[in-house]
Amino acid sequence: MIILKVEDITAGYTEVEILHDVHIQVKSDEIVSVIGPNGAGKSTLLKTIFGVLKPKKGHIILKDEEITGLNPDRVARRGISYVPQVNNVFPSLAIQENLEMGAYIRKDDYSQRLEEVFDLFPILKGRRKQKAGQLSGGQRQMVAMGRALMLDPQVLLLDEPSAGLAPLIVADIFEKIKEINADGVAIVIVEQNAREALKMAHHGYVLATGRNVLDDSGEALLANDEVGRLYLGG
Ligand SMILES: Nc1ncnc2c1ncn2[C@@H]1O[C@H](COP(=O)(O)OP(=O)(O)OP(=O)(O)O)[C@@H](O)[C@H]1O
Ligand SMILES: [Mg+2]
Repeated sequence: MIILKVEDITAGYTEVEILHDVHIQVKSDEIVSVIGPNGAGKSTLLKTIFGVLKPKKGHIILKDEEITGLNPDRVARRGISYVPQVNNVFPSLAIQENLEMGAYIRKDDYSQRLEEVFDLFPILKGRRKQKAGQLSGGQRQMVAMGRALMLDPQVLLLDEPSAGLAPLIVADIFEKIKEINADGVAIVIVEQNAREALKMAHHGYVLATGRNVLDDSGEALLANDEVGRLYLGG
């Protein structure tokens, strides 16, 4: 079942158009990776899906309902969570407080969800009172993902979750992403670490200069010589 459809999106910033007629589709059980060179518009795409940027044209459809142009808190209520590329934790707040911030729009008792998130990231559990600013990069990324999971989203948007992390830690983070997906969350992941991101992707999209270049299964993109040469460093 297709859970998220991005159709012909044209979007950008006040003075400049970055995305031109971009489309992606995500099935409810999929990991979809978006790759492409620096400046391709990958982060802009996630910001537009989450409502941080309003598109000039096109449609964003979640479970057959149009969410185009809704503000981020509305989009979150509909079932999409977003982990930005930078500044994705509150360094001066404790781990648990960071997670609770993620539940800010929940009116119900989220204590059970909090424990589920701690179970997913056991390393955070024993440190729940520790300030997020004191954590390693990988642990911080786990806090950021945990915060996004507090709303029990159906779709999780991840912008460069492996940025700046050592290879072993990257493998940990990618394992967690697979676990989250296996728990029934559709994932859209934007990555510089394109080869690894395609390995775990059911489907991948290549963006360049704000346009769709091609899309295919993760496997097929990895096997494609031109993709390898142009986007995976040979
Ligand atoms: N706030 C902004 N105002 C104006 N232009 C911006 C802004 N943020 C990004 N841009 C421009 O939009 C283009 C796409 O940026 P974006 O961050 O979406 O690329 P990206 O594919 O995520 O790149 P990277 O791999 O470096 O993260 C770039 O040319 C960038 O300079
Ligand atoms: Mg980016």
